[in-house]
Amino acid sequence: MNKLGLDYLDLYLIHWPVQGKYVEAWRALEHLYDQGKVKAIGVSNFQVHHLEKLLKVASVKPAVNQIELHSRLSQTELRAYGKKHSIAIEAWSPLMQGELLQNELLREIGAMYHKTAAQVILRWDLQHGIVTIPKSVTERRIQENADIFDFELTDEQMAQIDELNENRRVGPDPDNFDF
Ligand SMILES: NC(=O)c1ccc[n+]([C@@H]2O[C@H](COP(=O)([O-])OP(=O)(O)OC[C@H]3O[C@@H](n4cnc5c(N)ncnc54)[C@H](OP(=O)(O)O)[C@@H]3O)[C@@H](O)[C@H]2O)c1
Repeated sequence: MNKLGLDYLDLYLIHWPVQGKYVEAWRALEHLYDQGKVKAIGVSNFQVHHLEKLLKVASVKPAVNQIELHSRLSQTELRAYGKKHSIAIEAWSPLMQGELLQNELLREIGAMYHKTAAQVILRWDLQHGIVTIPKSVTERRIQENADIFDFELTDEQMAQIDELNENRRVGPDPDNFDF
């Protein structure tokens, strides 16, 4: 916070569920929350079994679970668990690090609305109630990624995009990482 020049943080997350450490790390976050130094605390890359273990001992429930999520990894189980326990789902690598942008279905749907595949993906997140954090260092793309509030995908288009799921990751698997 000193480096950021801030008196408090809006949201602070545990980045990865390191075995044997994440429950203790959660207690430290709860302490910061109780002191008012962070307004909300959450987790990242937690699977259902990690969340179940945490919820048994937590006095503050995670506000957010930030997970890899895109049309090839739609994370239906974690989304349902989040909905049941009021844990917001946040999508990292929502564009699959660019891999999804050439997808024909997404481009065809985009063309119907004069939108790009990236905008269709981000609109799909929005309509599913998923917080999304695309990254770009390019000003034009940052603007493009925010310009998704003037069109609406139909139920049929949402279902077609849902069907792209292959449970395929581009990042590490939270059940099998060693860092
Ligand atoms: N919690 C975690 O463990 C975790 C893990 C990985 C990532 N993240 C976070 O998730 C965020 C996004 O993830 P990410 O960067 O891996 O992947 P991403 O947002 O899916 O994709 C980023 C790539 O897409 C390109 N891009 C962005 N918008 C575009 C557009 N409209 N048209 C064409 N290309 C576009 C970017 O290029 P340019 O930048 O060159 O424009 C970049 O190469 C990051 O802020 C990262 O910190 C979190």
